[in-house]
Amino acid sequence: MQIRYQFEHERRLRCGFVGAGGHSFRNIYPSLLYAPVDLRAVCDLDASRAAEYARMFGAGAVYSDHLEMLRSEELDAVFLVTAYDQDGDVQATSIAEQCLRAGLNVWMEKPTASSLGGLERLRAAERETGRFVMTGLKKMFTPAMEKVKSIITSEEFGFPTSLFVRYPQDLPPLEERNDPVRMLWFLDHIYHPAAILGFLGGPITRMSYEWEPRSGATVTNLLFASGAVGALHLTAGQAGTSPLERVEVVGQGANVVVENGVRVVYYRPGADRGYGRESSFVVDDAVAPLLWEPEFSLGQLYNKNLFYLGYVPEILHFCANALAGTFPQKGTLADAARIIVLYDAYRTTPPGVTVSLPTVTLD
Ligand SMILES: NC(=O)c1ccc[n+]([C@@H]2O[C@H](COP(=O)([O-])OP(=O)(O)OC[C@H]3O[C@@H](n4cnc5c(N)ncnc54)[C@H](O)[C@@H]3O)[C@@H](O)[C@H]2O)c1
Repeated sequence: MQIRYQFEHERRLRCGFVGAGGHSFRNIYPSLLYAPVDLRAVCDLDASRAAEYARMFGAGAVYSDHLEMLRSEELDAVFLVTAYDQDGDVQATSIAEQCLRAGLNVWMEKPTASSLGGLERLRAAERETGRFVMTGLKKMFTPAMEKVKSIITSEEFGFPTSLFVRYPQDLPPLEERNDPVRMLWFLDHIYHPAAILGFLGGPITRMSYEWEPRSGATVTNLLFASGAVGALHLTAGQAGTSPLERVEVVGQGANVVVENGVRVVYYRPGADRGYGRESSFVVDDAVAPLLWEPEFSLGQLYNKNLFYLGYVPEILHFCANALAGTFPQKGTLADAARIIVLYDAYRTTPPGVTVSLPTVTLD
């Protein structure tokens, strides 16, 4: 895909931005440079930081109260990158609802909400206003994961029969899982591997897990509505130097592996060899594995984390839909609902117990 720089877009969304913190500075404001965005205003409870971000990223107005920003500015859309209250509540859920009700489309960081109730309120506001909220589920937008999706939906791959996702995250002891502060990091991070599971596998209907008390690591068995089976390995306890992620999808005579988010190997079907007498592992080119990985030498956009981690692609998806007056296909409230259903299952289910997960569509 060819990228246009921000100033090259003929039509741009007039945007406000709530939140001038660490992640937004590193990853979201810089991503706007590649999107059809006209950044009009920055808002943060810390007005001096909001002013600094506005100066650096080109916004003309500064606020410390987002409601005042909504009243004073003529906007099409709002970006929300806030964090958590002291009691562990997601700050952006209610702000997103206020922005929808002010008639604006909303792009927000995960977590969208900490409960299904929060998502249902946002969905009701979507229905009433005709505007939408999209969550930045970046894992659905990485070039690697987009490639995996296109491979596993191809005819030659066959039915995606099983799926494995690895991600480092600890789960607190069962008796602490009603405490939103103790569960904050689990909530914060489960959005990432669960977004991959949902994107590649669809809805999950059944799960059970085992839990290791020293690290809080878990290994989870999953059954998808499609009939595929899966495993989620949350590798708490791993080294700080280790890659975080590995994803594998197995089809029928084919499989695809993503290492470290950027190295994709597709083991194609067709190289069936009899056992015992083959003298070479080298197969015909037509059935040989395919490998994609970045070269990390050229000053290309694809070598920026803003692109290969999915930030710019997710923001472009948001902008394209906001400009066209359509609803996004990824990062939807239904996607977030599937993640919260899984989160709630971990929150309430003891290790070793199998539970069915409800189907939640948020229609
Ligand atoms: N997708 C990713 O890769 C990724 C990575 C890191 C963080 N995040 C997410 O980004 C979010 C922010 O993380 P962070 O580390 O930048 O947090 P942070 O605490 O550094 O920044 C949050 C900012 O929001 C401001 N804020 C809070 N409530 C506000 C309000 N009502 N009005 C205006 N400003 C308000 C705070 O003052 C703060 O400056 C979190 O939701 C986190 O989960 C996502």
